[in-house]
Amino acid sequence: MRHLLSTADLSSAEATAILDVAEEMHDVQSRPVKKLPTLRGKTIVNMFFEDSTRTRTSFEIAGKWMSADTINVSAKGSSVSKGESMRDTMLTLDAMGVDCFVIRHPSSGAPRQAAGWVTASVINAGDGQHEHPTQALLDAFTLRRHFRETADGEFAGKRLVIVGDLLHSRVVRSNVLLQRTLDAQVTLVAPPTLLPTDVETWGVRVTQDFDAALADADAVMMLRVQRERMSGGFFPTAREYAENYGLTAERLHRLRPTTAILHPGPMNRGVEISSEAADATASRVLDQVSAGVAVRMSVLYHLLGGGEGNR
Ligand code: CP
Repeated sequence: MRHLLSTADLSSAEATAILDVAEEMHDVQSRPVKKLPTLRGKTIVNMFFEDSTRTRTSFEIAGKWMSADTINVSAKGSSVSKGESMRDTMLTLDAMGVDCFVIRHPSSGAPRQAAGWVTASVINAGDGQHEHPTQALLDAFTLRRHFRETADGEFAGKRLVIVGDLLHSRVVRSNVLLQRTLDAQVTLVAPPTLLPTDVETWGVRVTQDFDAALADADAVMMLRVQRERMSGGFFPTAREYAENYGLTAERLHRLRPTTAILHPGPMNRGVEISSEAADATASRVLDQVSAGVAVRMSVLYHLLGGGEGNR
């Protein structure tokens, strides 16, 4: 594996291998000295052309804990702000001998384009409304741990309900592709205005009946309402949205005790998720954040060739 651009590129065996190595990496997080020699001598450049807290920080931590040299580049403060094209910026940094670019970009497809320009590996850290593959992998890691605690630990047949702003979400696209590969049953819930036009071709169940979908869910993933990508009125008011499509305190109390609650973050408390649900015992939100470091360590390990016995 040279790049990670889409979860569609991962077979079930490849995805499982990433999750398995992430289990080992997760143990490093609880050690007093969080340092592995695995990526000594490797250089990773985080190029974030869009805001991020979780993804950028966890990639940086992952690289540092594996002894790589990590450098952060943003549009502001680089020559991109002087009008340099992304291609010229990538070629410039590639010529310095970089081993891996981690790219977040507002344009769908930008990381795949970049992968065609450079000799280094490229990881898609979220591109526009397209994909966010490491988010889907950390979600799968969190879910697998939950299924091990509450059931047989398998994805096959598990019911994952994903709710909210599907239209603008790269998280839902990567999750649908990965969860289908892992044989989970995915149900999507959204108001008609926030459904992608091609959703019927995704091969998953789509409904507006949130309460019916919740009744037998093994896990529910709430998606952020992405106001920054909305140019018009996609729903009347935030209050009405919360009533119809939010994980309210009332819906929380109707969940089965074994239903996990996920949210990729950042959360709009009181809109797609109530504080009661975000902070509930069933909430896996902070487990997802923790998994983000382990999964990104595993992805870097797979791409930059740690080798057996080197972790
Ligand atoms: N989930 C996620 O991608 O969060 P950030 O935007 O903070 O990286």
